[in-house]
Amino acid sequence: MQKVIITGGAGFIGRHLVKSLLEKNYEVYVIDTLIDEFTGEKIPDSLLLNYFDENFIKNNIHQIDILDYEKISPLFKEAYGVIHLAAFISSPNSINEPLKAFDINIKGTLYVLESARNNGCKNVILTSSAAVYGSIDGLKKEDDITHPENPYGLSKFIDEQIGKLYNDLYKMNITCVRYSNVWGPDQHDIGSYAPAIGRFIKEAKNNNPIPICGDGEQTRDFIHVYDVVKANIKILENIDKENVRGEVFNVCSGIESKVIDIANMVANIFKEKNNSNAEITHVAPRIEPKRFVGDNTKIKNTLGWEPIITLEEGIREII
Ligand SMILES: NC(=O)c1ccc[n+]([C@@H]2O[C@H](COP(=O)([O-])OP(=O)(O)OC[C@H]3O[C@@H](n4cnc5c(N)ncnc54)[C@H](O)[C@@H]3O)[C@@H](O)[C@H]2O)c1
Repeated sequence: MQKVIITGGAGFIGRHLVKSLLEKNYEVYVIDTLIDEFTGEKIPDSLLLNYFDENFIKNNIHQIDILDYEKISPLFKEAYGVIHLAAFISSPNSINEPLKAFDINIKGTLYVLESARNNGCKNVILTSSAAVYGSIDGLKKEDDITHPENPYGLSKFIDEQIGKLYNDLYKMNITCVRYSNVWGPDQHDIGSYAPAIGRFIKEAKNNNPIPICGDGEQTRDFIHVYDVVKANIKILENIDKENVRGEVFNVCSGIESKVIDIANMVANIFKEKNNSNAEITHVAPRIEPKRFVGDNTKIKNTLGWEPIITLEEGIREII
């Protein structure tokens, strides 16, 4: 059994990832503050119990801040690898709290890397984001120019650079994944900056209008969390290969979807399933990239990974 550490393993993506790794018989340990950034509240045990048993929650989830080096470092002893998800995750919030965002996302990542390096844990997946590309139009490839436009995006870009340095200098195997918009069961759905699909479904469930910022013509590349989990596991299994270690991979669907079309899809599925009156309402536009779509050719060709879950399929599963 290989021991792996998942930082941020109690969060949205982390829960799905940890569950899958346990099913594959990895020995998993989670490092997480257990605080939901959008609500500021503790992640409820009832939510964790949907994914893990009491024994795992008690013994394998360590409620520690990644900024506490003395406490996290010993946990890396004899670990095969770490998937580092813990982060200050919101671009808009990072504009209001740059110090906190840089602290958690850069210093925190350094502490995770140092914990790995000092304990002989060679294999690390660092989680980056499509926010490194900024709002330049066009299909984004890994080698394209990066143009982060907020502290969150910049912190993720710096993480990638630090990861590359550790990979080359300390002969570790460090791979970075740039996720586009990840969505799926139990994603954040509270607050005006909550990710679109989670918020749309929540409002429709509560018989509230589905709020669209501006005209809804803005586009995003939505990738289902189950596909993101599979990409992580493929990378972990191949991380010592020369075409995987030290590399950056987009993890995205490669499909450009209009926000208005997704809102309509949610509304229509609700109407069909519940006879509900899900309506759409337009609220003030916000400053955000107009279009985004990523190119996933590199990860497809290197690892044979393919996104499988369509928007309609995934939304139907949640509703
Ligand atoms: N969800 C997306 O659409 C998306 C897109 C691109 C990149 N990402 C990246 O994926 C990763 C996971 O995102 P998510 O959507 O699951 O977010 P999430 O907020 O659900 O999970 C993050 C987890 O990290 C924990 N955490 C935060 N700060 C911590 C700290 N200082 N020490 C220990 N734990 C801490 C939180 O308690 C939370 O459980 C993040 O690195 C995020 O930047 C997510």
